[in-house]
Amino acid sequence: MTDVVLDAAAKKTLLRKIPHGVFICGVAEGEEVNGFTASWVTQGSFEPPLVVMAVRSDSTSNGMIQRSGRFCLNVLAADQKDLAAVFFKPQKGVGGRFDAAPFSLGPLGLPVLDDALGAVECTLVGQVAHGDHTVFVGEVKTATLHRDAPALELSATGWQYGG
Ligand SMILES: Cc1cc2nc3c(=O)[nH]c(=O)nc-3n(C[C@H](O)[C@H](O)[C@H](O)COP(=O)(O)O)c2cc1C
Repeated sequence: MTDVVLDAAAKKTLLRKIPHGVFICGVAEGEEVNGFTASWVTQGSFEPPLVVMAVRSDSTSNGMIQRSGRFCLNVLAADQKDLAAVFFKPQKGVGGRFDAAPFSLGPLGLPVLDDALGAVECTLVGQVAHGDHTVFVGEVKTATLHRDAPALELSATGWQYGG
């Protein structure tokens, strides 16, 4: 494999074709909650129900997921791009982004946004730490559906996260 050369431009173009949603990942540790916008999310198993999410190694939430062993995924409605923008911008303190978004704690103690379509809470069952993101595998333990409507998709936002 020593002669293999990666075409970086082709790699970028092709990886950006992978369709993504836009979610707010919620985390909690002790009395503290935090949330961030995540698009590298997919389902990984029917039974048990698993989700897979890649999280930046240097983010606040990465350590909180590792230490607490849980995370949730809030599913945004198609018209909630503004809310997604709040959750990737710098914040005053850990959890400060929730000042703009009311939430309640779900059965696993994770922040479920009142205005999202709903959320699933997961316990951490596996992870791969290799590269600049950690790939977390979570088993879905609770699901809260507030309303059923089309979800926000990354392609509709004009933002890029990938390549
Ligand atoms: C469109 C978009 C998608 C994103 N998707 C992810 C993602 O899947 N995983 C991730 O770790 N960060 C993702 N980010 C970046 C995080 O939202 C950002 O690093 C955030 O500040 C992390 O918050 P924290 O440090 O409080 O945990 C995305 C950003 C944007 C703009």
